[in-house]
Amino acid sequence: MSDQSKLIWFNGKIVPWEEAQIHVMSHVLHYGSGVFEGIKCYSTQNGPVIFRLDDHIKRLFESGEKYGIIIPYSVDELIKACLDIVKLNGFENCYIRPIAFYGYDTLGVHPKNCPVEVAVASFFWGAYLGEDGLTNGVNITVSPWKRLSLESFPSSTKASGQYLNSMLAVQDARKRGYDEALLLNQDGFVAEGSGQNIFIVKDNKVITNGENASILMGITRETIIQLCHDLEIDIQIMDITHEMLLNADEAFFTGTASEITPISSVDDSSIGNGKPGEITLKLKNLYLDIIHGKMSQYTHWLSPIQCTNDLTPSVAE
Ligand SMILES: Cc1ncc(COP(=O)(O)O)c(C=O)c1O
Repeated sequence: MSDQSKLIWFNGKIVPWEEAQIHVMSHVLHYGSGVFEGIKCYSTQNGPVIFRLDDHIKRLFESGEKYGIIIPYSVDELIKACLDIVKLNGFENCYIRPIAFYGYDTLGVHPKNCPVEVAVASFFWGAYLGEDGLTNGVNITVSPWKRLSLESFPSSTKASGQYLNSMLAVQDARKRGYDEALLLNQDGFVAEGSGQNIFIVKDNKVITNGENASILMGITRETIIQLCHDLEIDIQIMDITHEMLLNADEAFFTGTASEITPISSVDDSSIGNGKPGEITLKLKNLYLDIIHGKMSQYTHWLSPIQCTNDLTPSVAE
């Protein structure tokens, strides 16, 4: 088991990794009725920090509300759970996965009295699309699977069952030898990767799509939009056609796990000269400096691990 660590926060208690278990008849296992987050913790000169923790936990609650999954903890309690579990596992750099889901009670599709269970895991996870992809760019393919429609799902949320759509797309892409899939939406416009938002650059202007394109409203996407404003780079939010992507000077993915990953080619057609572009690298390098605590004006996005003086009581019996 590669993604393992010592402890997990599970329903308010700290338990050993092996003991964080649920019943096979849990509602979530049958219908995907869970909402989750992907968050990252990075080392800095002043100790580890979690990037945009409050925003991730707020999005977790918003995703839950969309599905009627009412989380039986407060935002502050789950923020503290994230800080505690990283500290207790002794990580400097790690991925954090909070999840809230319907547990075991009824197997009816309507969850009725199923309890909402909550877990927060932290573990090491390297470059999502590989170190080489992160540095030199990834080769992607347009998926035969369309991104799930806003009319079928609240597609801007992060819900477990929705990821079957992403899984189909990335499995198909890998089978055909590509690093990642790009899903178009029901209208034929570019939506996003299986786990990333997308940006293109044309004539020094940065372009990304909006909520109507059936995308997850990524926190990294929002960060990059903010950084473009701060750097006075022209940024526009509009629908992106397949043709616009193919003719772009640069393109890149954004996501908590993928960070800023340059896109080298789409279906074997190079983007620009196939190498990470100038604006992509400028934004990527600034992002890396921010998450590693090197930019004082962005430290409000960083939650230091050592601020949790009041650690959750010792491991549950
Ligand atoms: C489908 C999808 N789109 C976009 C993103 C990027 O979101 P964020 O930047 O909040 O991690 C993710 C990240 O997990 C994702 O799964």
